[in-house]
Amino acid sequence: MRAVDRDAPEASVLAEAAEVIGRGGVVAFATETVYGLGADATSEDAVRSIFEAKGRPSDNPLIVHVASVEMARRYASRWPETAERLAAKVWPGPVTLVVPKNEIIASVVTGGLDTVGLRVPATAVARGLIEAAGVPLAAPSANRSEHVSPTTAAHVQADLDGHIEMVLDSGACEVGIESTVLDLCGPTPRVLRPGPLGADELATLLEQDVVEGASDGPARSPGQRAKHYAPEATALRVETLEDLVALQPGPADAVLWVGRSEAQEPAGQAVEAGTTLVLPDVETAARRLYAALRGFDDAGVQRIVVVMPPPSPPWRAVRDRLVRATIEG
Ligand code: TXA
Ligand code: MG
Repeated sequence: MRAVDRDAPEASVLAEAAEVIGRGGVVAFATETVYGLGADATSEDAVRSIFEAKGRPSDNPLIVHVASVEMARRYASRWPETAERLAAKVWPGPVTLVVPKNEIIASVVTGGLDTVGLRVPATAVARGLIEAAGVPLAAPSANRSEHVSPTTAAHVQADLDGHIEMVLDSGACEVGIESTVLDLCGPTPRVLRPGPLGADELATLLEQDVVEGASDGPARSPGQRAKHYAPEATALRVETLEDLVALQPGPADAVLWVGRSEAQEPAGQAVEAGTTLVLPDVETAARRLYAALRGFDDAGVQRIVVVMPPPSPPWRAVRDRLVRATIEG
């Protein structure tokens, strides 16, 4: 683990990390969303080491991180007009644009798909590393496959210690959930994975319709499996206070209230959980969600009961992650 300044990353540390990337190694680094596990996207062997370190199925495509729009264009066989307009508005930032790929990107990166997800991350550390390495970085979230994504360097260490050469520690991630994945290959932009920017916000920026969800036929976003982002404890979700009370949370259980103000006074009904954590608004919930789930596991909690946020558009991405992390209570 190497400490690095989040705003002005030391050139010597970036050079050392770039050297690891240059010889086909894997380096974990902070983006604004979650920590990523990066390797040279143009090298098949380097990209294979990512899948090995994570224990990730190889049909699950990786996002390719670049330092600029200009650099992104170099890996697309076609750069749609929507990509040009949107990139100017949302990059650097938490939106991944899926476009037709060219042959420079190793096909192992995209799990055999003829498209590639590209994004310019917002942290100085991520962009500095890409620039120092001089190559695009294929980088999935730096967690063990199917575990909760990491939002601190300590989370990465806990999952992948011994499997990766270097972790750059620049503190906690500011956004906390993974980027929105937007497919720009078809006539209508399509959100394949909900994220920090919602479909409605993207539609406003693009001044055109944006649809949500995978299209018919084979999954376009194979990483979107039902089981994903799961903690070790039994995690149950409830939509109402009645359902929460029915589960009778006890001292060995934790209750996570998301987007709820009733948490302070649960309608006069006794909820005697060992731990109670309230994530009141969307930004706080996104930023702290994964650390909360990992924290409950570290504390040896038996059951995590999540009181779900409302099914309204602003909560879309947080609900998506919570549904994947839990089973119906
Ligand atoms: O915020 C993020 O996106 C983080 C940071 C590190 O950038 N990365 C991340 O990567 O979440 P990962 O590998 O955990 O998830 C990438 C997901 C895939 O599971 C898939 O759903 C989608 O992005 N994806 C990537 N390339 C794609 C493509 N060519 N077509 C469709 N979906 C793609
Ligand atoms: Mg992931």
